[in-house]
Amino acid sequence: MTTTADAIIRDPAPSDAYDVEAIRRDFPILSQQVHGKPLCFLDNGASAQKPRAVIEAMRESFETCYANVHRGAYDFSERTTAAYEGARDTVRRFLNARSEAEIVFAKNATEAMNLVAHSLGRGLLQAGDKVVISEMEHHSNIVPWQMLRDSHGVELVVAPVSDEGEFLMEPYRKILAKGGVKLVAVTHVSNVMGTVTPAKKIVEAAHDAGAWVLFDGSQAVMHMPVDVQDLDCDFYVFTGHKLYGPNGIGVLYGRENLLDRMPPFLGGGDMISSVTFEKSEWADLPAKFEAGTPPITEAIGLGAAIDYVQSIGLEAIGAHERDLLSYAMQRLAAVDGLKVIGTAPEKTAVVSFTMVGAHPHDIATIVDQQGVAVRAGHHCAEPLMHRMGVAGTTRASMGMYNTRAEIDRLGEALEKVNKIFG
Ligand code: ALA
Repeated sequence: MTTTADAIIRDPAPSDAYDVEAIRRDFPILSQQVHGKPLCFLDNGASAQKPRAVIEAMRESFETCYANVHRGAYDFSERTTAAYEGARDTVRRFLNARSEAEIVFAKNATEAMNLVAHSLGRGLLQAGDKVVISEMEHHSNIVPWQMLRDSHGVELVVAPVSDEGEFLMEPYRKILAKGGVKLVAVTHVSNVMGTVTPAKKIVEAAHDAGAWVLFDGSQAVMHMPVDVQDLDCDFYVFTGHKLYGPNGIGVLYGRENLLDRMPPFLGGGDMISSVTFEKSEWADLPAKFEAGTPPITEAIGLGAAIDYVQSIGLEAIGAHERDLLSYAMQRLAAVDGLKVIGTAPEKTAVVSFTMVGAHPHDIATIVDQQGVAVRAGHHCAEPLMHRMGVAGTTRASMGMYNTRAEIDRLGEALEKVNKIFG
């Protein structure tokens, strides 16, 4: 009998041209030792390491041409503005947005999500309107909507996931059929299980019901090409630091005609066209949503990260990671008492698991002694933990530079866990 987990263990035929050792050499930190052993970094879902191209782009900006943007009439300010806006154009092309007006820089994905919640709440949503999320959301796609529910009376509806961690289309369609849904805000890829949600079907059904769709793409954009026009979504958010870029930078894509109708989120410098003590007028997009000095060097670093990832190719990265996932599912199946949480057939290279008799934090501490970095706990997704009937999991999340040998090191470290806990 073929199980869902077996479906993940398939031959993804990785390309011979994918030179993972050359990629590893681009990431200086990967040659570090931890506890006297080579670093084996399997916590990419929390934050990924940075290639030299990103480090150099940021260093060069600080060392050779740095000033505030959009404010100075002098050479350094104009050149820094050109670099900052150039990064926006890189993001626009990365997502295939129609224009740069649709790309707003934020501090991170959480801030981008809060921007949408606050702005829709003060502009386009009414008390009683429904916002649909799913059971597998990160807290950053739950809490802003709860805050909006409490302040503005919108109703929060939760779409269920299956025991394998799949997004269930039928219950979702039933929620939409009841009417009143104004926004569907769901993850594109689960940070805990790696489940890839059926994004295009989610959008089609939502639009048929007259609802907008926001995707949290924080765990998606580093694993697969994302085209917001093809998805036809209304909002898409992601963060830079998981995409091999710096922290402190996130992106909100929004359909221009929607962003146009939405009031600003934060008030301050650069988001206005004029200010008197009586009233202020807002700047055009995207400046309307970028109050204060923006994350300038971080945007430049993000642009460099996107260029780097695209020079390898997201299709090639995806194929390499599918091979790692397939290998990890087989290797970890050989560890006694290990149970994988999240076995949807469509998933990225993320493996969350429990082990009989060992707490996730103890597991993570023991494997750390072997130089293996994984995350343990509820992964900022407590409601999903309740749904899956676990208090927490240990999570190995792989990236473009991980290898099968590192999966073996994880497997061996977990066997040590079993020896300790019997
Ligand atoms: N959201 C990040 C994670 O899943 C921090 O680990």
